[in-house]
Amino acid sequence: MPKRPAFAKWLDDTNDVTATFLAAGRVPGLINLGGGLPDTSVWPVPELAGLASTAVAKHAAETLAYTPVAGLPNLRDLIAKRFSGDSITLTRDNVLITSGGAQALGLLGTTLVEEGAVIAAQAPTYLGALDNWRPRRPRYRPMRLDANDLDPAKLMTGAQFAYAVPNFSNPTGKLVDTETRQSLVDAAHDTGTWLIEDDPYGALYYDAPPLPRMLDLSAEKSRNPYDGPVIYLGTVSKELAPGLRIGWVIAAPEMIKALSTAKQGADMCTSGLCQQITHDAFATGLADDMLPDILSLYRSRRDALCAAMDAHLGELYDWERPTGGMFVWATAKRPELNTDHLMKVGLEHGVCISPSSVFDPEGRDRRSVRLNFTFNAEDKLATGISRLAEATRTALAQS
Ligand SMILES: Cc1ncc(COP(=O)(O)O)c(C=O)c1O
Repeated sequence: MPKRPAFAKWLDDTNDVTATFLAAGRVPGLINLGGGLPDTSVWPVPELAGLASTAVAKHAAETLAYTPVAGLPNLRDLIAKRFSGDSITLTRDNVLITSGGAQALGLLGTTLVEEGAVIAAQAPTYLGALDNWRPRRPRYRPMRLDANDLDPAKLMTGAQFAYAVPNFSNPTGKLVDTETRQSLVDAAHDTGTWLIEDDPYGALYYDAPPLPRMLDLSAEKSRNPYDGPVIYLGTVSKELAPGLRIGWVIAAPEMIKALSTAKQGADMCTSGLCQQITHDAFATGLADDMLPDILSLYRSRRDALCAAMDAHLGELYDWERPTGGMFVWATAKRPELNTDHLMKVGLEHGVCISPSSVFDPEGRDRRSVRLNFTFNAEDKLATGISRLAEATRTALAQS
């Protein structure tokens, strides 16, 4: 048989961690602290089923045909209105509907990143963003947003864009304070670089009212409707249901146009049925009504995970208790712990974690783990953490 053409080289640079923790959900008895999954009990199944059947019956043209590339006009208008406020005015031209936040990251790669381009990225960096941009082989400038000597203008000069998850970052669960948000926005205006604000966890504040979005801070320095440098990414995945695969980009109209051209080649349009369901879930108040129950469930799970960590991991790791989101980031006290190895040992002990290497563009950080607290009930979180303590001791003994 003749030799088949080789796969593209970037495939050699990937990792199998996402596939491992998605598969971990199906291994009997394994406790999956590795993913970023919502609890399945929060989905309002009968209500969403009702919205789906009404959507098809009443809006066949919108739900069963291709939609306009940028999205159904009613959903674009709804998002524009929902995110407009005292400081910012948005119109439909500021909004692109995407197939999840993941697609928005991919389209930004296609639109802004040429081979070898520079990206200034909050470090550690969301694995899905790294995965999306990997085929372009960008060069990363890490932005440590809690460092005292942070100089955003220096990091952003000459970069195609800066990327940050200011609300409860994936992977660290950290909240970026208002002063730092403002300094990133100022640097974007001063340097002319785009600033991506990726915000899947923006509604998941457990202890305090939300901090201002960088989009809103930037609007104070831009014209209305919004034409500034912030590219805001939203999604229904963490508040409604990830299976809908609905996300949105809010940005200057020139950016929405460019991304729409990229989207045309990617998938022509996002499912009209899912767009209509999302529209109706917001318009009827269903999505907002669900939020208090989600917050109370996830707050108790955050508390349960942190209590179990206090009980079992105090001698092994350092961590900060997050005030929102889905994750705790724990860093080994002993530098010889290799968390890539720990992931494998953890699977043998019946617990799955995400190792820090996959959130580092260079793959070198091997000292931390990301732990999810939203997916499992409190008793399972406690068992998972005691298994992690055992696995860590075993991995350290083997190092
Ligand atoms: C930081 C961040 N961005 C984007 C996404 C993508 O979410 P989705 O494609 O489900 O909207 C996620 C999902 O976990 C995330 O954590």
